[in-house]
Amino acid sequence: MSNSDFTPRESFSSKFGVVAAAAGSAVGLGNIWRFPYVVGENGGGAFLLVYLFFIVAIGMPVMLSEFVIGRKAQRNAIGSFKKLAPKTLWYFVGVIGVAAAFLILAFYSTIAGWTLEYIVKAISDSFAGKDMDEIAALFDTFHTGTFWPLFWQIIFMSVTLVIVIAGVKNGIEKYTKILMPVLVVIIIILCIRSVTLPGASEGLSFIFRPDFSGLTAGSILSALGQAFFSLSLGMGTLITYGSYISKKEKLGTTVVQVTAADTIIAMLAGVAIFPAVFAFGIAPEAGPGLVFITLPNIFQEIAGGYLFALIFFILLAIAALTSSISILEVVVAYLKEELYMTRKAAALFAAIVITIMGVLCTLSSGVMEDVKIFDSTFFELMEFTASDILLPLGGLLIVLFIGWYLGSKKTRREVSNEGSLRARHFPVFMFLVRFVAPFAIALVFLYGLGWLQI
Ligand code: PHE
Repeated sequence: MSNSDFTPRESFSSKFGVVAAAAGSAVGLGNIWRFPYVVGENGGGAFLLVYLFFIVAIGMPVMLSEFVIGRKAQRNAIGSFKKLAPKTLWYFVGVIGVAAAFLILAFYSTIAGWTLEYIVKAISDSFAGKDMDEIAALFDTFHTGTFWPLFWQIIFMSVTLVIVIAGVKNGIEKYTKILMPVLVVIIIILCIRSVTLPGASEGLSFIFRPDFSGLTAGSILSALGQAFFSLSLGMGTLITYGSYISKKEKLGTTVVQVTAADTIIAMLAGVAIFPAVFAFGIAPEAGPGLVFITLPNIFQEIAGGYLFALIFFILLAIAALTSSISILEVVVAYLKEELYMTRKAAALFAAIVITIMGVLCTLSSGVMEDVKIFDSTFFELMEFTASDILLPLGGLLIVLFIGWYLGSKKTRREVSNEGSLRARHFPVFMFLVRFVAPFAIALVFLYGLGWLQI
């Protein structure tokens, strides 16, 4: 029996807190750093349409499945399966999730650390008067270094730790409630700046005018992969948060709101970035360097660029923080409930282990660049294992669990709050969960492993 049978379980205290925390988890580096460059690499508008289709047809059903599991069981990612499917191996889905949390936060904190360095670079006006090559060199010198990337990673992990130790209501909910609206305001300011640049319309038509000729089978699958990562699906983050949602909350509505927030912010990030990219003649397929190399160059060439650079990197750090909190919480909730650790000890232990793994990721671009396992650096290995293997596998098993193990009756009871809501779209949800989502996720999974060549 877990200790939560004796002590009242922590929960979110308000409707807005639930949405802010879950949306805070979803909105992160995935939206603002990854989404624009993946859209850029895959040709713009057509990719965006496919992505939006996957968000609705697969992302939303998987999200609702995670909420149902967590809120019904009132447990962490592993404990939930132990409770809903006792004496079976389903709890292994939670094990995959907890393992993924360690790996994701390890490399996530590397990139998040970079955003902190770039806040300082923005404050000290380091980009001023530099051309594209000099700004690229600035990034190279920094991210291949040892001390500063590690320093910022540790600072980032410490802030994450402090918030998670404060707990669900006083930490996670309180901070995301402030941080999320700030984020939206800052990104809207950036959008306004970007779309008013001369030549901005080309960037807008790049993302909003679909050109299906450039769409390959590979980009269709990477749209699904991006949908997964961006919505924080497949590793029990939303099972854990689901367990903090009150029985009175409407899960379906929460799913719609969180998905809308995540999608709107990704689109806003695209609107903030592409018009500027085109206005300054930069290649949209610049890749992962888009934020750290290209944008500083753009910022220092526009009026008010000093301020825009500063708010942009603050925004990125905030978005990363509300996601990292949710990743650490997956591990903490597990250690607390299944291994009876205190919240503080659990958070400290998890953060230390993750930081040690994270150090390996950070040094992968510097002194440990040549240390390779299966031909990959630690960073690449952890990113690949978590994103391309563990998340799709976890997501696939989650929809199979809801669709084929827990079944329609029990799921309906949870979604309709014991019959008090009508849950009108429930049959659509169940159809997606049983047939559409498993098939589509399996495709991404096989593709990620290279077992399916397209
Ligand atoms: N969704 C987060 C982002 O977009 C990343 C994340 C993935 C968070 C998986 C939790 C779980 O940055």
